[in-house]
Amino acid sequence: MSLVLNDRYMKPFVDEQALLGMQEEISKAHKMLMEGTGEGSDFLGWINLPKNYDKEEFARIKAASAKIQKSCDVFIVIGIGGSYLGSRAVIEFLKSQNYNSLAKDTPEIYFSGCNISAQALNELLAICEGKDICINVISKSGTTTEPAVAFRIFRALLEKKYGKEGARERIFVTTDRARGTLKAFSDEAGYETFVVPDDVGGRFSVLSAVGLLPIAVSGIDIDALMKGAADASEAYTATSDIEKNDCMKYVALRNLMYREGKAMEILVNYESYATMFNEWWKQLYGESEGKDGKGLFPASVIFSTDLHSLGQFIQEGSRSMFETVVSVVNEESKLPVPFDEANVDGLNFLAGVDLNDVNKMAMKGTILAHIDGGTPNILIEIPEKNAYTLGYLLYFFEFACGVSGYVLGVNPFNQPGVEAYKKNMFALLGKPGYEAQKAELEARLK
Ligand code: PA5
Repeated sequence: MSLVLNDRYMKPFVDEQALLGMQEEISKAHKMLMEGTGEGSDFLGWINLPKNYDKEEFARIKAASAKIQKSCDVFIVIGIGGSYLGSRAVIEFLKSQNYNSLAKDTPEIYFSGCNISAQALNELLAICEGKDICINVISKSGTTTEPAVAFRIFRALLEKKYGKEGARERIFVTTDRARGTLKAFSDEAGYETFVVPDDVGGRFSVLSAVGLLPIAVSGIDIDALMKGAADASEAYTATSDIEKNDCMKYVALRNLMYREGKAMEILVNYESYATMFNEWWKQLYGESEGKDGKGLFPASVIFSTDLHSLGQFIQEGSRSMFETVVSVVNEESKLPVPFDEANVDGLNFLAGVDLNDVNKMAMKGTILAHIDGGTPNILIEIPEKNAYTLGYLLYFFEFACGVSGYVLGVNPFNQPGVEAYKKNMFALLGKPGYEAQKAELEARLK
């Protein structure tokens, strides 16, 4: 099995009949998603993406990644939200959080345009000094301020360093197939472009060119990633039966928790390589479900690190949350605790024990402590960490998110609330057309 949902730690909190009582709603939501009859049905391209992708573009992604690997020391991925979280999550999960220090045959990879920080950009410019650079700017709309500013800066750097002709060979653009200023500009400049499919929103785009080009540059096997996701799509789209489909059981459990007042879901991982995976998951669920005054608040922790910070709250604070723990059953990286003759730290009872086993006992002990404290735990296990199992896991959460949004009664595929800050920021910065809002906002800030 590529992924198993273990619900034994939910038993004290979930009435079996209540769980089975969710079946009808789950089946209805599953059907809406599969038949495209729910809200946001223009954005369901991700459902079949792992099987039904553009093979010609996939080959171009591989060719471009090989060219990038050969021609640069530093590869800069420019994008925000769904345009960078997926690739960063996959690279760090499968390679390392310290990928840039450990990468030998592949370029260092940096992410830019995901904030408005002068310091972050200045640091990256300093890192680039004396190095060969390629960039991949990713923006479906082509108009998002953060990546647009970063692209302006790095494009200028590349043109200064290599000339317009040379820069053209080093700039790769992932954007809408036909619309938008970025597409028009790229065609005019002669940059190689890749497509964010019309019917795939940013947070569901990790298995499109958005995620695949940076992931391929890092040396990860994108065929295996897609195969894992394709097998997950076979499994999860085939039936809505909670007893036969772990993805649907997850949807049922989290919606039951929400209805019982546990309105916060904490994604728990026990390895720091999953830090950005947690961020990807938070965006997926936060932007998909948090609207119309509804939604589970998606939070995340890395244990055991955060057991020494948020652990106290999860154990004894307000009982408003449940945890979803992701665990890799067999970790490849091993390290036994050394024996020490003097045993001053009293740790010889662990001598020879692999740190993974210590980590697993920390996980089991924590789950039991948290359920004793009143925090339910869903456990999701993948047998090992590789591109195939991660593809499977990504699809598990994407498909669950689509169905769960419909169970919740929201459109999981829009994000109207993201516009609010942008309008205010543009008005305050004096963007033409925002004059009336500027005066009103400035008055409120006085
Ligand atoms: O999930 C989403 O749709 C968003 O997070 C977008 O990915 C994000 O806002 C970036 O948008 P764009 O790719 O248009 O620059």
